[in-house]
Amino acid sequence: MTGRLTVVAIGLSLLLAGAAMPMMRPRLGDPLPGLTSTELTRFTQGKAVFSREFTPETGLGPFFNNVSCAQCHEDPVTGGAGAFNEDDVDVERHATAGDQPKTCDELTGFGGPVFREQTTGPNLPPIPADAAVHVGLRSTPMLFGFGLVEAIPESAILAHEPRAGGRAARLPDGRLGRFGRKATDPDLPTFVAGAFNKEQGIDIPDELSPADLDLTVDFIRFLAPPAPLQRDHEGWEVFHQVGCAECHIPSFVTKSPIKVLDRQVVHLFSDLLLHDMGPALADLCKGVAARAEFRTEPLMGLRARSRFLHDGRALTLQSAIVQHGGQGAAAAAAFLNLSRRDREALLRFLKSL
Ligand code: HEC
Ligand code: HEC
Repeated sequence: MTGRLTVVAIGLSLLLAGAAMPMMRPRLGDPLPGLTSTELTRFTQGKAVFSREFTPETGLGPFFNNVSCAQCHEDPVTGGAGAFNEDDVDVERHATAGDQPKTCDELTGFGGPVFREQTTGPNLPPIPADAAVHVGLRSTPMLFGFGLVEAIPESAILAHEPRAGGRAARLPDGRLGRFGRKATDPDLPTFVAGAFNKEQGIDIPDELSPADLDLTVDFIRFLAPPAPLQRDHEGWEVFHQVGCAECHIPSFVTKSPIKVLDRQVVHLFSDLLLHDMGPALADLCKGVAARAEFRTEPLMGLRARSRFLHDGRALTLQSAIVQHGGQGAAAAAAFLNLSRRDREALLRFLKSL
């Protein structure tokens, strides 16, 4: 673009942005508006740790999937989803044995439940060849707005149980699991410490200081949620009529000692409960979830995703919807019975999230 054209284009986009939105809206990857200067510094420093590329000398491995968090959480910007590159591990392999939660064996003695794909030298532990072992692929999700997800009170999650058959992922320590597709982790520090260990082979405190772990958590905590676009009202109605909102609960109000995360409305479109999604989607048990159970995937930020469902098997939204089985089967059937006009309105609505 020539200089003058650029000026005109910038002027136009400012005008358009101003017309649609009186306030400045964060873009994907931006920090939450209204952070204190200390919080903003922690966000920036945390982003650096999230992007730090480890080497064998700085603790990488021996087994790992990628050299940094940002290598997987990259699309369209740092903190985002996996890009599904051919030459990159954005989709990982999990394996566990058994079925119902009480008998679920996470194969920790064999290198599970996340079976790594890269090594600094020693042979990678293979997934045990055993009839009881089940394998599942996991695509990399986006993390925008996840500090707000962490700040949703447990009572608000429990309030939707057992709507549409959902059940809270009550962990052995009594807390509710909410992170991970099987709702395995109750908060960001737990998930992030596990991610350093499983994805990069980084042990805390030997290979990463607790202070750097906290900074990484604060980067995710302070990532702004994707700002919803102008809502399609017809599609919003259809979303409720066919029963999507039974599980994809549109919003929650947060509670947090951190001011910027307190009393905020988070447009999550999930109940954070586990649902039995039927045999076609079922893969492995994990945490307290059975093979067919998945946490309702948040639809927040759906417009920025290119593949759908836990392993990225769905290439379009329609495909993701019609593959809902089990407790989601009725909504999938209702979707198929919609008039063309209603179906298009629903898809327009989904693409505004
Ligand atoms: C190899 C790619 C890869 C790397 C590297 C990676 N992640 Fe992830 N991340 C994933 C996948 C896949 C999941 C989904 C796991 C699941 O659902 O069980 C995930 C899930 C998450 C979640 C929970 C999201 C949710 O929907 O509840 C958080 C938080 C997270 N990662 C943070 C991190 C951090 C921090 C690092 C670096 C220490 C990291 N990840 C490194 C692939 C990766
Ligand atoms: C019974 C609860 C339930 C109902 C009802 C339901 N969903 Fe879902 N939805 C889920 C769960 C659980 C997942 C995650 C499944 C997986 O990853 O395999 C999901 C995943 C999705 C995804 C994929 C998101 C992603 O990024 O991977 C989309 C899109 C979606 N649902 C849309 C809808 C729409 C539209 C409706 C209504 C026609 C609907 N859902 C009804 C529980 C439900």
